[in-house]
Amino acid sequence: MSENISDRISRVALIGTGFVGSSYAFALMNQGIANELIMIDLNEDKAKGDVIDLNHGKAFTTNPTLIKYGTYEDCSNVDLVVICAGANQKPGETRLDLVDKNLKIFKEIVDAVMASGFDGIFLVATNPVDILTYATWKYSGLPSERVIGSGTILDTARFRYLLGDYFNVAPKNVHAYIIGEHGDSELPVYNSAYIGAIPIMKFIERNDNYKKEDLDDIFIRVRDAAYEIIKSKGATYYGIAMGLARITKAIFSNENSILTVSAHMNGHYGEDHVYIGVPAVINRNGIREIMELDLSEEEKQRFHNSANTLKQILAPHFD
Ligand code: LAC
Repeated sequence: MSENISDRISRVALIGTGFVGSSYAFALMNQGIANELIMIDLNEDKAKGDVIDLNHGKAFTTNPTLIKYGTYEDCSNVDLVVICAGANQKPGETRLDLVDKNLKIFKEIVDAVMASGFDGIFLVATNPVDILTYATWKYSGLPSERVIGSGTILDTARFRYLLGDYFNVAPKNVHAYIIGEHGDSELPVYNSAYIGAIPIMKFIERNDNYKKEDLDDIFIRVRDAAYEIIKSKGATYYGIAMGLARITKAIFSNENSILTVSAHMNGHYGEDHVYIGVPAVINRNGIREIMELDLSEEEKQRFHNSANTLKQILAPHFD
């Protein structure tokens, strides 16, 4: 008989305890999402220091998380491996500029994790996330539903935050998605966007204060948000860490929640042989199904262009 999901111990191994990884660990601990967290990094002192620092806050948490330092061998009995390790964008760099150096790092990481006997779910955050999630799927040999990338979960959250601010409604009531590459070719989907249960274009028509051009400006701010943050503070980490925690919670709580993650296209949206940001149902087994939004002809073309951008990057590395 299958064990009761809610009784299962939820174990995460985090690989890479830099800004994103340690912020993710902090979010996991404060939200009490996992029962156990193993922190792994080439910089052993940094990882061990984070473990000590986080454990000192244990008395302040409601659902205590057992946090410890570990190595790749400890991945053998974890449910989820989250990869935040790798080089990150410097001012002026695009995410796709990081491909070559991070592919090499990922081959070593995924081979070491799989050598431990790991048979759970991978969650990838390192950029370019769509390329590196595809690489993790190829290197690991795991079924595609158990290899997930953070995709456009943060872009969608930025979009909902800015639209909520514009329309003066809570972000959770803005049902709008950013899909495509987590990067410069991503796109907003207005054809299937709602404020509450009202189509967004109808919502705009009802009030002369709202203009479609404003939505286009908001999208540009979303698409370029990381460049702005990197320019001002050198890196982004809180938003993406909270997005990773959200995906982790959907997995461990077996939520069947719809989140925009980087998922493997197998004919979905007319695409294949690529990982790309789309809304997907997430539960204890990973990606249960991909949700195919009704796109306008322009949105279909932009999504196809985004998929092709990623395929051109993948081509020299994967046959
Ligand atoms: C950003 C990084 C996670 O968009 O790519 O902030």
